[in-house]
Amino acid sequence: MTKTAMRGALIVLEGCDRSGKTTQSSKLVEALNNLKIPAKKISFPDRSTPIGSIINDYLSKKIDLPDKSVHLLFSANRWELEPEIRKQIEAGVTLIVDRYSYSGVVFTSAKQSIDFEWCCGPENGLPKPDLVMFLKLPISDIIKRSGFGDERYENIEFQNKVDKNYEKFKTDNFIEVDAAQDISVLTKNLLEQVVKTIDSVKNQKLDKLVL
Ligand code: TMP
Repeated sequence: MTKTAMRGALIVLEGCDRSGKTTQSSKLVEALNNLKIPAKKISFPDRSTPIGSIINDYLSKKIDLPDKSVHLLFSANRWELEPEIRKQIEAGVTLIVDRYSYSGVVFTSAKQSIDFEWCCGPENGLPKPDLVMFLKLPISDIIKRSGFGDERYENIEFQNKVDKNYEKFKTDNFIEVDAAQDISVLTKNLLEQVVKTIDSVKNQKLDKLVL
């Protein structure tokens, strides 16, 4: 008789630039591993791949690209990792993902000339996150954080549009969290949600994303 292994959870952290996602995703993985729960971190864009390297040149303003073309590169960067994401989840590893398809849609559609529905298209069929935690921070706080303004998109007007676009994703597995909390309190609160989710999805199938 074959034993069905329990799967890991796919957890996504979203938010405007400099909202603390990167710090919190690392802290969550550390906290889960301390609890002996297998967990790894993934970040999008993954700048280490050939596609990610083009994205990096675009974000650091070394090159310019048409908006729709760069949107598809961000999506292709996720599809590059899709087999690995499925493999890890099936092997029982929980993945903490720093940005996912939601970033793809909210950033490109903040460019106005690009339709929200069009932006969703290439994301459909990717593994569906079990939980998305949106780290909400006032834009007035974000612009004071160190490094803000270095990359493309890091300006107040654009971030306000991005923040507004995230409103369109408030569904059942998409929760908003106050990112202005003390760092360790925030980690504790996020961890609680993550552990609950890992337990509730462990015997469920990993769905396909439909935006
Ligand atoms: P990062 O600062 O989290 O590395 O993200 C880099 C920038 O890329 C950030 O401004 C958000 C943007 N972005 C997109 O425009 N589309 C995407 O699909 C992703 C993942 C990020």
